[in-house]
Amino acid sequence: MKGNAIVAQSGGPTAVINASACGVIQEAFKHSEIEGVYAAHNGILGVLNEEIFDLGREDPSAIEQLKTTPASALGSCRYKVKTQEDFERIVSVFKKYDIRYFFYIGGNDSMDTADKLGKLAADTGYELGIMGIPKTIDNDIRGTDYCIGFQTAVEIATEALDRLRSTAESHHRVMLLEVMGRHAGWIATYAGMANGADAILIPEIPLDEVRLGELCKMLLNRNNKGINFSVVVAAEGTILEGKTIVRESPELSDYGKRQLLGGVGRVLGEIIEKRTGLETRVSSLDYIQRGGTPVAYDRSLATAFGVKAFNLLQQEKYGEMAAIKGNRITSSPLAEVAKGIKSVYINAYMIAERFFG
Ligand code: F6P
Repeated sequence: MKGNAIVAQSGGPTAVINASACGVIQEAFKHSEIEGVYAAHNGILGVLNEEIFDLGREDPSAIEQLKTTPASALGSCRYKVKTQEDFERIVSVFKKYDIRYFFYIGGNDSMDTADKLGKLAADTGYELGIMGIPKTIDNDIRGTDYCIGFQTAVEIATEALDRLRSTAESHHRVMLLEVMGRHAGWIATYAGMANGADAILIPEIPLDEVRLGELCKMLLNRNNKGINFSVVVAAEGTILEGKTIVRESPELSDYGKRQLLGGVGRVLGEIIEKRTGLETRVSSLDYIQRGGTPVAYDRSLATAFGVKAFNLLQQEKYGEMAAIKGNRITSSPLAEVAKGIKSVYINAYMIAERFFG
């Protein structure tokens, strides 16, 4: 099928956001069935608002530089496409620009949008090949072991934990670091294990009264043994006494907006200090963990996913998301991916053991 292609990226940025777009764009120019390559400014909102630009007019060396430039050249958005009106508008804009291939780089919401859009296009008889590319520091997308941006976030979080260890040791404190991840504990798990943190707190293991007691006991035991400091990492989505701590009102999600998680570290730090009497300090990595220079793994994964997306196109295997499983670059159906989030496999990582040190 001959026609134009469009690239868009939505959701939170990652350190590798430019490189992931670059991989796809450069591949697109190589394919004969693709007549023109467009990009949407600010993700799917760019399609809805018809803010679309022709990449054929851009300087190829500027595109090449995206590989190593931090920040987000195409922009991104947090907009969950929910209404039928929005989906129909997207298809009508695609028709107007004769877009036949859609490369959508993003997290869970984006993969869900890609899946629904593919179905609508099929129902209306519009030939549209959709390929998803998983990008989120949270690493919570189903159907792939890793998402672009995750390893860089882990690297940053690990370094932060290493640095906090100095204060923990010299001032005999409990140092607690809150990291992102939404409702999955992947960043906390990987960074906590790399650092050798004394406790790794994740949404997959809710901190109820019993576990809170055990956590405090473990921290006190370390002190009694003469190890008078501890390092703790908590994922922002850690469920504390039945609740996820949010920074913005819980009603937001009813209006189609995402709740902003965060703050569990502070609340937990106070509880630990009160219950154990151990001096406790809290840091939060916030947005630092999703920017800056990407690690090599993320860069090469971005390239591999870009190439895979085009293999899918050549095979006319649409409605799929590029993925890595084991050590193989492969793909997963968007319909499967869109079913929910990927949680940490507690047993596989022996998290329960690490949890209490
Ligand atoms: O989805 C990625 C993520 O970085 C989450 O870990 C975090 O909860 C969220 O984005 C923050 O969102 P925003 O950029 O909208 O504040």
